Amino acid sequence: MRNSLHLAPSGEPVLAVDLEAEADLNRCGALRDYWYVACRSPELTTKKPLARTILGLNLVLFRDEQGKPTALRDRCLHRNARLSAGATFDGKLGCPYHGWVYDAAGNVVEVPSLGPSQRGEVLDERVHVRSGLTVEPCELGRLQRFETREQDGLIYVFMGEDVWKARAEPFRVPYWGHPDWTVYFMVTRFPNGVTNLVENFMDVPHTVFVHSKWFRNRARKRVPATVKRSGGSVLVTYKQDQDAVSGMGRIFNPSGLPMFHTDHYFVPNITRVDYMWGEHGFVINSQVTPVGPTDSWVYTAISFRLPFELPGRVVGRFMAPIIKWYTTQVILQDVEIMRVQREGLLNGPGGGVFKSTEADLLHADIEAYRRWLREGGQGPGPTDEERDIVFWI
Ligand code: FES
Ligand SMILES: [Fe+2]
Repeated sequence: MRNSLHLAPSGEPVLAVDLEAEADLNRCGALRDYWYVACRSPELTTKKPLARTILGLNLVLFRDEQGKPTALRDRCLHRNARLSAGATFDGKLGCPYHGWVYDAAGNVVEVPSLGPSQRGEVLDERVHVRSGLTVEPCELGRLQRFETREQDGLIYVFMGEDVWKARAEPFRVPYWGHPDWTVYFMVTRFPNGVTNLVENFMDVPHTVFVHSKWFRNRARKRVPATVKRSGGSVLVTYKQDQDAVSGMGRIFNPSGLPMFHTDHYFVPNITRVDYMWGEHGFVINSQVTPVGPTDSWVYTAISFRLPFELPGRVVGRFMAPIIKWYTTQVILQDVEIMRVQREGLLNGPGGGVFKSTEADLLHADIEAYRRWLREGGQGPGPTDEERDIVFWI
């Protein structure tokens, strides 16, 4: 898994998914120049700091005096204790070890052991400096700080060095705030890396095996689709009016309208799956936050609109717990299959070298975009293309 290039027995180079490099802030290339979800808005209070790990780097989040989210490197400048184990007060952060206090910009604003004057009583300045001590607290430096954005009920952190170089804006949650739609979130820890997860969320063939009876049953039918790769997205449009989902999917379509289904990937870590019957349906938006090579948090927003007469949101609020229970069962089936994939992947060399068929074209496109970004994302990147495919489910 370490190298992205393996050699096949024929001597031909084989491209592999390098999950370790993808999840390493210093080796992930342009994959860091995006906004990643750190938490849901209500999870970050003014009462205590929150620990998060993104691209292998530990962050501490807290709210400043105005309530704006702040993200700092979760390592005290003094003796490197994790600041997320400390406390917040007046929009500042106190280290749990010796109580150094940081403001929202990451500056040290108080060193308790220096007393009220904060100047220390330097008895022999020359000796202090020779021993590597900092004489003035203002010269202690400051913690690395990351830009944050709060939007659509989520808190995003920009992991790149310069926010002006962000390659995209934080993703908008579909139908967030729309009067006729209900939106709820599910937050799930998945034992796998971003590439494998976004592939899973875009993947139709697995549904008849992993979610049999719950979501879609095997029907041995032919599914034609168009795969359009352009501008950092992969859009799959399924051209089959008779397609149907089982389980809860039925309540969206009592009058038997044709189903309109698209799967859409957006670089580097986002999928949006739409199932629509006329004006009604549901949209599953998944944003994957890489913690480590095979460890991720997935923020799933389910937006839905039911085909009933009452104002959409009234019915939505009533139905949400039932739909949430159902979608949780389906997600847990994916968590389990991702664990099973991980076990195979990590067992010995060669993990991350995948064989693909026509049914995997969209996955090959996702891998092409992510590989290009991991390698720095310079130049035009994968070319825009639109192709027809057929597979069976
Ligand atoms: S390690 Fe943080 S104050 Fe000492
Ligand atoms: Fe699934």
